Amino acid sequence: MKNITVLVSGSGTNLQRILDSIESGEIQNAQVSLVIADRECYGLERAKNHHIKNILIPRGKNFSSQLNEVISENTDLIVLAGFLSILKSEFCENWKGKIINIHPALLPKFGGKGMWGMNVHRAVIEAKEKESGATVHFVTSGIDEGDIILQKSFDVMENDTPETLAEKVHHIEYEIFPKAINKFFGN
Ligand code: GAR
Repeated sequence: MKNITVLVSGSGTNLQRILDSIESGEIQNAQVSLVIADRECYGLERAKNHHIKNILIPRGKNFSSQLNEVISENTDLIVLAGFLSILKSEFCENWKGKIINIHPALLPKFGGKGMWGMNVHRAVIEAKEKESGATVHFVTSGIDEGDIILQKSFDVMENDTPETLAEKVHHIEYEIFPKAINKFFGN
């Protein structure tokens, strides 16, 4: 059984999707053994509802070293699911090849510092992009720069707004996140 630790900062609908995929058998031989949040958020409640060990480590300069203390050696995969803090490069190096992130755009476009959540969707609309989508990628010390595991796009319509894009991207995320986790585990 593979052990997954999920890091969240927000509503945690992607965490929920992962939990549902494990329950339905879409993701096999894996369990979410720990959920960590860097702030009070609904993602933590979802972990509690599923009786999963959950820890709040307030964001700040000691976050990454505290993370190291609570993530056990037998962790197979660390999943950033709507996680908004930047992890220290030592932490990324230590867990190299074992941390993945979901990003709400078609990387390498619209990634990097400040590109998270609605900022991304606003930037996509402002740039009059023809397409948007979601990307699951490995986490390295360069923000949003690691190798891509899975990506899926859709056409941006003339009447799309940042809000409608956010919703469409979420649906793409729910589709590709379990697939990317399966791909990671070679399932
Ligand atoms: C998701 O759209 C995710 O791609 C984005 O935050 C949202 C979290 O939603 N992540 C980032 O912007 C990270 N750079 P959720 O809390 O409902 O899963």
